[in-house]
Parts: sequence; C-alpha cells; structure tokens
Amino acid sequence: MNNDTIAIIGGGVIGLSIGWQLLRNGQQVEIYDSNKAGRAASWVSAGMLAPVSEAGFEEMELLNLNLESIKQFPKFAEELKEDSGIDIDFRTEGTMMIAVDRDQAEQLRRLYEFRKKIELPVEWLTGSEAREREPELSPAIKSAVWIPNDYQVDNRNLILALIEAVKKRGGTIHEHTPVESVSVTNDSISGITINGEEKTIKRVVLANGAWAREMKGLPDNVRPPVRPVKGQILTLRMTKEFTLQKVLRSPKVYFAPKKDGRLIVGATVEEKGFETFPTAGGVKYILEEAWEAVPGIYDLPLEEINVGFRPSSRDNEPIISDTPVKGLYIATGHYRHGILLTPVTAYEMAGIILNDKPSELIKPFSLLRFR
Ligand code: GLY
Repeated sequence: MNNDTIAIIGGGVIGLSIGWQLLRNGQQVEIYDSNKAGRAASWVSAGMLAPVSEAGFEEMELLNLNLESIKQFPKFAEELKEDSGIDIDFRTEGTMMIAVDRDQAEQLRRLYEFRKKIELPVEWLTGSEAREREPELSPAIKSAVWIPNDYQVDNRNLILALIEAVKKRGGTIHEHTPVESVSVTNDSISGITINGEEKTIKRVVLANGAWAREMKGLPDNVRPPVRPVKGQILTLRMTKEFTLQKVLRSPKVYFAPKKDGRLIVGATVEEKGFETFPTAGGVKYILEEAWEAVPGIYDLPLEEINVGFRPSSRDNEPIISDTPVKGLYIATGHYRHGILLTPVTAYEMAGIILNDKPSELIKPFSLLRFR
C-alpha cells in the first residue's frame, strides 16, 4: 500500500464494483471485508433489477437513478465478463406484479395508475391473461401488471465475477480483515487501523452497507445515518415439473427464478437491528404468501433460509458521496436497490473520486442532505 492507494471498506457488490472501476481507471485499490467478500446482503439478495416495480410515490430522483443504472447493466455485464470470464446471467424476460385477493387488486390498481401517470411502461392484465403468461399462477389471481423492462441477474455470479475482475485488474481483497477505525487529521483522511496497526492512507471509500454508521474514528458530521433493515429470504429448488421463467411479485412476496434451478422467494422487511437468526414467523409469512400466489411451490425442496441486512438511510435513499473530510467517500444506504444500483454507483463513485466532483445525476444522493 502506498500513499496513492485507495482503501475500500466493505467487499460487497458496492465496494467490489467501485474498486473494480477504479482499477480499470488505473488506480491502486485494496478492499477490506470483515468476513468473506460478498457474503452479507449481496449474497442473500434476489438479484432483481426492478426500477419500475419498486418505484415509490415520492422518490422521483431515486427512480431516475434506478432507471439510469438498469440502462448501464448490459455494458457493465459485458465489461465484467471481459475481466472475469463469468456471466452474470442478465435476464430480460420482464416481471409480473400480481394480486392474490381483492385488497391486493386495489393496491395493484393504484400502483399501475401511478406508473401510467409518470409514463413508465406497464400493461394491465386480467387474472386469466396473467395465467396464460405464467401457468403456475394460482387460479385465485385477480389481476396483474406486466412490466416488460424490469429484469434480473444472478447476484451470486455478480459477486464471484467482481471478485475475479478485481483480482485480474491487480486489486487486493483482504478477507476476514476488519478495519477497526479510520483516522482523520486536519479534516483529511490520514489512515486506517487494521489488527491494531495504523496504516497511512489518504483516500477511503466507506462501503460496508448497514455497518457503515458504526465505523470508529468518523467525525459525527460524516457518520452516515444508515440502519439495518432485516430481510429473511428463502431458496427453493425448481424441478423438471415446476419452473418459473419470470420474476413474479405480489405486494407481499417476490419470486426470482435463476438459471441454475434456484427459486429465490422473499422477503420480510423488519426493524430488528442486527438480529441474525431467521424466525418461524418470518418463514411462515413468506411461504404462506408465496403458496397462495403459486401453489406449485408446495412440494419443492427448501434449500436455504437466509437473513440479510439492507442498509437503509434516514430517507431510504442511497448515499453516494464525497464528504467534508478530504479523501473520505461514502457509498451505502442502497436499501432495496443494492444490486440494481451497482453499475451507477461504481461509475459515479469512480467519477467523484477521479474528477473531484459529483455529476448532476448523483448530487441528490450527497451525504450533505442530512445536515
Ligand atoms: N429488493 C428486494 C428486497 O429488498 O427485498
């Protein structure tokens, strides 16, 4: 490590992809993860790229950012394949939002009308039209909305590809190596402490998701206001007799079928801090809701029950930002959109670091909005 090296704290998709883009721009990068790289929220996500289905009523700037990021995915995936040899399975079959009962149908109608009003591509379907497109749907489905431009990737391949690409470009990933604190001298980053030893460093990207707020040594004015939002999520194994092709979402659960036969079904959204264990109630909730929408899941093997922590900021929008501390950059708070926002975060954060200023697109996501 020399004085020009950029240290990235956090080896999830956000930290890895920023590191990889900096490496592609000729920078020296060291990435630190307190566990195995990519095994926290990134690993247990469903890999959905859902700017339209997840559009919130008051989140227009975030919607723009999400739409920009999904547009960047094909180029990002191609560059990643060049550098890693790994295909991240960028799939463009589209997504169907479904309503299982009358309450959900009313909710779906409101979501559809909002999307129509802001000119997002959506198509209203009756229950039987929905079942023609996805025969595994329950006959109880009342209505659906077809979203042609919400896609998905294999999030685990994305992680493996980013790890390979970082290594191939000469970056170092230090696993099981927590950064204990950052040092700030005269309003500038001056070092990081690892295993009790302080190393001199001038540029640090804080990208450790829900844990970013806890980093020791940060002055209060740059401590990102993020908290963990617990999600429980299941992996089922599809069989020859039962497969889904598209992402399906009810207002309560979603299904993301993967090429290798995994069917990711999630997720709870819980304010339980860093509670690491899955609960009987959480699993019951997901399975019951999922079974009502797609009864054929009943006999599928249940392979994994996972817990992840979405990093959520005070306004639920990401923080992709330089800071009043020279040399300190922050990328966290991606909440439900971490995988979707990976390309735009990586390109924009590399831009902020290399050009010394944020673009117009990224300005709304500055840390300074919380002052
Ligand atoms: N984006 C899906 C989730 O956060 O559960």
